[in-house]
Amino acid sequence: MSRTTMLQIGDQFDHFQIQAHIAQGGMSDIYRAFDMLTSKEVVLKIPDKLSIGDPAQYERFQRELEVMRTLQHPAILKGLGSGKFNSTPYLVTELIEGESMRELIARLAPLPSAEAVSLIRKIADGIAHCHDHQIIHRDLKPENILIAAGGQPVVLDFGLALTKKAFRVTYANLSSTAGTPDYMAPEQIEGQRGDVRTDIYAVGTMLFELLAGRTPFSGDTNLAVMAQHLKGSAPRVDKIQSSVSPQLAAVVARCLQREPEDRYKDMHALVHDLDNLDQVDVSILDKVSTPSPLKAFLRTPVFKTIGSTLMLILVIIVLAFVLKSIH
Ligand SMILES: Nc1ncnc2c1ncn2[C@@H]1O[C@H](COP(=O)(O)OP(=O)(O)O)[C@@H](O)[C@H]1O
Ligand SMILES: [Mg+2]
Repeated sequence: MSRTTMLQIGDQFDHFQIQAHIAQGGMSDIYRAFDMLTSKEVVLKIPDKLSIGDPAQYERFQRELEVMRTLQHPAILKGLGSGKFNSTPYLVTELIEGESMRELIARLAPLPSAEAVSLIRKIADGIAHCHDHQIIHRDLKPENILIAAGGQPVVLDFGLALTKKAFRVTYANLSSTAGTPDYMAPEQIEGQRGDVRTDIYAVGTMLFELLAGRTPFSGDTNLAVMAQHLKGSAPRVDKIQSSVSPQLAAVVARCLQREPEDRYKDMHALVHDLDNLDQVDVSILDKVSTPSPLKAFLRTPVFKTIGSTLMLILVIIVLAFVLKSIH
């Protein structure tokens, strides 16, 4: 335990008894606890000292629970309940015993291709289930995936998830505390809401990391990493790890395309390619590391300003012309 936490081992919190401090998340502390009502071991997520007074936290936990309850999949964490005790909001989930994917990477990466594909395949399957229910996770990273006994990955932390009902929750509200930009898609960095292809980008980044033992972009600061995501120049993973086939490198490259429309259109298409690697079209590899300068220019604020000014002038000219022809 790296710092003081709200609760100590043995404390009673509502109808739970605290057994251990498992982890410290972005804004919360995670405890293993014994539920005295059900006699089961569960996990409690409680705001950390800094976010304890945040009035929005209760609503976030409610939403997170609602998202988990919508989903039923072995690769998705099950939510059990939420509540408030002494005005502290909390979330209850099932306990996953195992290690996080972050720990697995530290211990084993680079992984042999077959193992990396098998793990990512199971994660992608769970995320496809989310997408089928119009839920976008938007914060997929190795810290938010646990590997349960038997190797089953379990995706958790739906605190940033986008649902049909929750359009107003944006990154600007939440992501300042989200930590690493390593898995953030370019459109996310630009402050857009994101869609299924945002999750595809993150899954591709994790596949890259499992295969190469490092993420596609690195830099001294978060801003330096973000700038590289925006340039869209992820290296070919088979150039870093020669045991990776060009077909698998092409799958990774398709996930990591700068423009969402150049990625897989949905998670099922990615799963299909992972299941049929021998049939993957590798021509995308020719395009790797060559972001289109025109597309980049069209996205700049300068272009947007020039574009709208030109449009205004055009409207004035047309109006003047019409008025003149009436006279
Ligand atoms: N149900 C669980 N079982 C075991 N460990 C968990 C569970 N939920 C969370 N953790 C651990 O706690 C960490 C933080 O949880 P998370 O839900 O991601 O919080 P935050 O939203 O604050 O990032 C995770 O990275 C994981 O290591
Ligand atoms: Mg987290």
